[in-house]
Amino acid sequence: MTTVLGLIGSARKWGNSEVLARQALLGAQEAGAETDLLRLTDLHIEPCIGCMRCAIKREPCPLDDDMFTLIDRLRTADAAVLAAPTYILGPPGAVKLILDRMLMMVPYLDELTQQPKPGLALSVSGLRPWRGTALPFLVTFLQGFGFTRVNSLACYTPGPGEVLLDDALMERVHDLGRQLTQEEGSPPTPETNVCPVCHSDFFTLSADRATCPMCGLQARIEHTEDGIRLAFDDSTGYEGHWTPRGMRQFVEEWIIPSGERFLAHRQEIKARRTHLES
Ligand SMILES: Cc1cc2nc3c(=O)[nH]c(=O)nc-3n(C[C@H](O)[C@H](O)[C@H](O)COP(=O)(O)O)c2cc1C
Repeated sequence: MTTVLGLIGSARKWGNSEVLARQALLGAQEAGAETDLLRLTDLHIEPCIGCMRCAIKREPCPLDDDMFTLIDRLRTADAAVLAAPTYILGPPGAVKLILDRMLMMVPYLDELTQQPKPGLALSVSGLRPWRGTALPFLVTFLQGFGFTRVNSLACYTPGPGEVLLDDALMERVHDLGRQLTQEEGSPPTPETNVCPVCHSDFFTLSADRATCPMCGLQARIEHTEDGIRLAFDDSTGYEGHWTPRGMRQFVEEWIIPSGERFLAHRQEIKARRTHLES
């Protein structure tokens, strides 16, 4: 039986994130899945200390908190839903604290690349023009923990539980939850000018190219009768920075050499900082 893990990224009881996560899980349950629900703010998560032991030495993180329990729950789930609010234009701190610890997945990258698991990211913001960057962070969170076949939906409503007033939205989320139980599925069709990897709609621009700052995917900027269109070249096979395959490449090609460079200069760095130590 498929097990679907729901993650709530808000401390607000019966807030919109909780309602959306529960609704998606209901859809999954009605399609035969076993479900479980976890509120991220109930976990004890320490900030990453940047020792790089997990990424470079592939050793367990030295911090003693709930990250190992969370990783076990994510590794044993067949699919996951993450629902969280926008807080000051980004993801809430509870989500970002865990994202910052994502390199802890490096020892498991071989396991994660074997089977793409489905995920569903649901962001909820008070106002569409104030939505900021939360949604692609939620997609990145799921990808980093091995849920690479990701669907997403941005929702807009401020008051706690107000999503319940929108029948069409609730129906849609129920259906997206049901889809998490399907073994195979084509990736969602990306909206125009939205990054197909991390679902971001913000880009850095240079000459005729747009780059997604979240996952590094590039697009050619085309000028059409309807305005600007971003043409993503999927023939490159590039999956983005934060999928397990992308993360492995990043660790091997950049993090490990940067560690070696630091070690070669460690004494010099120490000597150069003496005037700052008083
Ligand atoms: C501290 C805080 C910051 C917020 N920042 C934003 C924001 O930048 N943009 C926005 O559209 N909504 C913002 N909101 C509104 C929430 O995203 C919105 O109320 C959402 O429905 C909350 O979800 P929840 O009920 O699951 O907690 C903020 C709310 C709070 C409490």
